[in-house]
Amino acid sequence: MLRAKSVGRISPPSTDVARAEQLSRAPMLAIKSVEHMKTYFNRHSTERKGKGWNSKTHPSAERVAWDLNGGDEGRAWVVRVLAGRYRANPEVLDEQYAPPSVAHEVAACAERALSAGAREPLTYIGAGMTGIVFVDANGIGYKVYRGLYDSMRSMAVNEFEWLTVAAQVLGSRVVHPLCFDRDNLVLGREFIQGKPGGWASNLSDHHRAIEREMLPHGWTAPEFKEDSYVFPEGSPKTPVLVDASMAHRVGDVLLAYVDEIITGVRPWLDERPPDLGFVLRVEASNGTITRDDANVRLLTLEQELA
Ligand SMILES: Nc1ncnc2c1ncn2[C@@H]1O[C@H](COP(=O)(O)OP(=O)(O)O)[C@@H](O)[C@H]1O
Ligand SMILES: [Mg+2]
Repeated sequence: MLRAKSVGRISPPSTDVARAEQLSRAPMLAIKSVEHMKTYFNRHSTERKGKGWNSKTHPSAERVAWDLNGGDEGRAWVVRVLAGRYRANPEVLDEQYAPPSVAHEVAACAERALSAGAREPLTYIGAGMTGIVFVDANGIGYKVYRGLYDSMRSMAVNEFEWLTVAAQVLGSRVVHPLCFDRDNLVLGREFIQGKPGGWASNLSDHHRAIEREMLPHGWTAPEFKEDSYVFPEGSPKTPVLVDASMAHRVGDVLLAYVDEIITGVRPWLDERPPDLGFVLRVEASNGTITRDDANVRLLTLEQELA
């Protein structure tokens, strides 16, 4: 983009240069800038027909300006981003869960998304209690966990593992995970273009059905929140679950999980022996594991404490 500046014979207007500098620098753009880019591309697209548009050696001033503003690649990106505009707007922040302090965290979280492989520029999509979500230039949704401490770490690991199983079991009813960066705590998943669901849309029935299908695979459903589903644009209209926090392991999957912690295959994160003891007792009484299977492990956990 900046290369175009030196190729042009005529000095481009400073607004075009400013935009180019902003695009080359910014890890993310304010949605306002993206809207201005759209206005620019709309206003100037007729200039493509002008002389020198396709000349490599003597491009027209209009072509130089176009490239400084992001060029064809930039225009395609703007169209993609603005298709989800109403959610890529700080005003639709999940007010119920997101503390007002989220604005201060956005830049640092964007940096972590980039370290995890996101391609700039990033657009802010939304935030909840656990994560800040961006969509990158490739159209991948990156959830950056808000904080690098143990309980966030275990939430992130659990969400990634849940989504990995759920993608097999539930198909297009759940967002598919694409990558997970354990050091930066960044989860890359499909980005679903559409409208977030509300309490009114009977999503709780849908959520119960998801739980019924996940239980035989060793997991409850995640916590139910009204904005955890997105209704995708176009058909089919099936809501897609995008937020998978707070699901619990049951049955054999729970036993394997406890065994992995006891034997050191998995690190102890925020859960302590009494926490694991609690879930073992709950699931023994729910009947997803036997009392004997629970008791052996409870004994080991008690020795852990001694
Ligand atoms: N993959 C995605 N596609 C589309 N929108 C998403 C996606 N992931 C998150 N969002 C939006 O961002 C918001 C916050 O993400 P979420 O995973 O719910 O974080 P938290 O666990 O903190 O609530 C969601 O409510 C949703 O509106
Ligand atoms: Mg959420």
